[in-house]
Amino acid sequence: MNTKNHEILEAFQFRYACKKFNAGREIPKEDFLTILEAGRLSPSSFGFEPWKFLILKNQTLKDRLFPVAAGGQNSLRGASLFVIYLARKKIDLLPESPYISRMMKDVEKLPDAVIKGKRDFFSHFQKDDFDLLDGERPLFDWACKQTYIAMANMMTAAALLKIDSCPIEGFNRAAAEKILIDEGILDPVHFGISVMAGFGYRDEVQPVKTRLPASEVIEEI
Ligand SMILES: Cc1cc2nc3c(=O)[nH]c(=O)nc-3n(C[C@H](O)[C@H](O)[C@H](O)COP(=O)(O)O)c2cc1C
Repeated sequence: MNTKNHEILEAFQFRYACKKFNAGREIPKEDFLTILEAGRLSPSSFGFEPWKFLILKNQTLKDRLFPVAAGGQNSLRGASLFVIYLARKKIDLLPESPYISRMMKDVEKLPDAVIKGKRDFFSHFQKDDFDLLDGERPLFDWACKQTYIAMANMMTAAALLKIDSCPIEGFNRAAAEKILIDEGILDPVHFGISVMAGFGYRDEVQPVKTRLPASEVIEEI
């Protein structure tokens, strides 16, 4: 196996859901910025980046989230970097929304004719292909899926830097959102919480990795 392949697989073996972080060890600034950049540069469907990454530094806020995020308590207490991934809601994801218009015009810098075609195609995708228009939830969940790609890339980038991480769905969404809303951090019209993750350095022995055999999860057709 060549060096690059080995390096990549080594990082995937290194990464595990860290349950105990060393609270006294900080991620160096350069690594911290690289991890965040891995998230920002992640792909998203149609390139619409329906996310925001909240870097939780405020200790009071961490303490407030602690009781409603049982699965994230280790990270809240020990991780050097704690990220709350926000996903955009339907209001921002409808093809005619100001957010989608801004993305195509100002960020992707598409010409008007291309914008029209992409908007029509996006509309068809939502309505006919992925059935995303029934209620508020499907489009929000679709946006949440995109945030998981960013989170995964950040965890892999971290692993390549020998930094540990833990993805976190172990929280009560409504209760966590209420805390962020109360603090004036979350605008619930536009965003909801998708997922969270802690990054830092392990203070425990990594457990043995268990996975189904490749023959069961990979099928050539
Ligand atoms: C989306 C997602 C949410 C998860 N939520 C939690 C969590 O809240 N708390 C936790 O300790 N682990 C959490 N995990 C970790 C998984 O339990 C873990 O990834 C899985 O058991 C495989 O083990 P490994 O990651 O150590 O290889 C989560 C993993 C994913 C992908």
